[in-house]
Parts: sequence; structure tokens; C-alpha cells
Amino acid sequence: MSNGKQHLFIVTGSSRGMGAALAKRLVAPEHRVIGIARRTAPELTGMEQWEQDLAQPLEAAERLQAWLTGQAPFASATLINNAGVISRPGPVEQTSLAELSNAIRVGLEATLLLSAAFLQGTRPWGVPLKILNISSGLGRRAMAGSAPYCAAKAGMDNLSASMALDEAARPNGARIVSLAPGVIDTDMQVQLRTADPAGFPEQQRFIEFKASGALMSPDEAAAKLVAYLNRADFGSQPVADIRQA
Ligand SMILES: NC(=O)c1ccc[n+]([C@@H]2O[C@H](COP(=O)([O-])OP(=O)(O)OC[C@H]3O[C@@H](n4cnc5c(N)ncnc54)[C@H](OP(=O)(O)O)[C@@H]3O)[C@@H](O)[C@H]2O)c1
Repeated sequence: MSNGKQHLFIVTGSSRGMGAALAKRLVAPEHRVIGIARRTAPELTGMEQWEQDLAQPLEAAERLQAWLTGQAPFASATLINNAGVISRPGPVEQTSLAELSNAIRVGLEATLLLSAAFLQGTRPWGVPLKILNISSGLGRRAMAGSAPYCAAKAGMDNLSASMALDEAARPNGARIVSLAPGVIDTDMQVQLRTADPAGFPEQQRFIEFKASGALMSPDEAAAKLVAYLNRADFGSQPVADIRQA
């Protein structure tokens, strides 16, 4: 079957939070949307959902690569690496090794491997390609009690900037942005507000975000991300913040 008139969107972390809002917003007759998460969300209709653990990033990327290789070219293709994990806030030696590994595998290794698989699978199509990596202000400043999360996001930023240099050297290379999305009312914020403050000195800030109404709804955040994705200059600034866009 020809995919030629459809635009492909792959969204990780699509089962809840901002990823679910983003996937929902992208569903349209001319879009083929694929969500990837450990669980599916029954309320997300009009799209495909892959149950895939991104803590096994090699398996996930090989699945994506095999699927893309079997597809006829789409009109364009976009990968949104949105899945992210905050391990229980606290110093690293008080966090299990498995939890530390999970945060880096899902937050950083999956981003790298899925991006590579995406470029390998879609490059032969010769169509416009975009990668949007969902970063955080915490990739750009350190926060006590959150070392693996800060490291994953800092890694994501420089991964994106470096990949963008490779793509800029190619004719019609992919456009890549690592974007901090602002603060959003999701499970991740609940985790931060309810953490043990003993190993997490900034906890009060997160309690105040909620109390003062500073958190965006997932839908509001998703609307801003889609508008950003559609900007004509998408990719001109590989490391960006939606609050300064
Ligand atoms: N919320 C904020 O204020 C905020 C601020 C800055 C940046 N961000 C970033 O924005 C993105 C979305 O955050 P959110 O707040 O929407 O997070 P969230 O509510 O915690 O949702 C995380 C998503 O990632 C998926 N995920 C987690 N572990 C996974 C795994 N092993 N395999 C596959 N999928 C996995 C989850 O699905 P399953 O559990 O079903 O697997 C879920 O869909 C993240 O990258 C986050 O770092 C958020």
C-alpha cells in the first residue's frame, strides 16, 4: 500500500502525561501516528500503540528499524523522543543500581538508538525528516537528588546538537531539536512533590509550582510542542526552550 500522502509520527512515552496529549493531538486522517510505551492507553484511538519497554533500547530500536524498512515512503517522518524517567529523588548511592540504569537507558540510550534507527530506516525515502527530543531545563542546570535525570537530559541536548551538525552537512538532512517543554502537570511532577525531602532539597519548589498554578496542562504543553514542530525554522536552534521560543 502507498503511504505517499501520509505523514508519519512516532511518539515515545505515549501512554500518559504529555506524550499521550501529544499523540492525541497528532491524530489526523493524513497522519500515521505510532505510540511507544510499556502500556497502551485505551483512550488513544486513530493510532497504533506498540507495547515496548524502552529500558531495552536495542530491542526497541531494532523493532523500529525493521518496521521502517518494510514501509513504503511516507510524505514526511517525525520522531518524538518524549519518554523520560525520573528515578526516586536522592543521592545516587541511595538509589538502586537498577533504577539508575533505567533512567539512563530510557532517557538517553533509547533516544540515541531510536534516532539512529529512524534515520537509517527513513533516509532512503528522501522525504523531510524531523527529530524532536523532549529535554528539560534540568539538562542545563544541576539539581541535587536528580543526577541521572539531569545527566540524561544534558546528554540528550549534546546528542541532538552533535547529530544536528552531521545532518547540516547533508543535503536535505534531518532537522533536530532538543526542546525543554516547561513544567507540566503529570505523574512526573507528582513524583517530585511527594519525594522524601531528605535527599531532595528543591522539593518545595515543585510543591509551589502546583500550588501557584504554574504547571501547564499536558494538553496545553502538547499544543505548544506541535506549534513548535510546525515552525518553518524548526531545527535552526538544536537546543531550545519553549519558554524562550
Ligand atoms: N512534567 C514536567 O514538568 C516535565 C518538565 C520538563 C521535561 N519533561 C519531560 O517531558 C517528557 C514527558 O514527561 P511527562 O511529565 O509526561 O512524564 P510521565 O507522566 O512520567 O510519563 C512518562 C511516559 O514515558 C513512558 N515510559 C516511562 N518508562 C518507560 C519505559 N521503560 N519504556 C517505555 N516507555 C516508558 C511512560 O509510559 P509507560 O509507563 O506506559 O511505559 C509514560 O508514557 C519526559 O521526557 C520528561 O522528562 C517533563
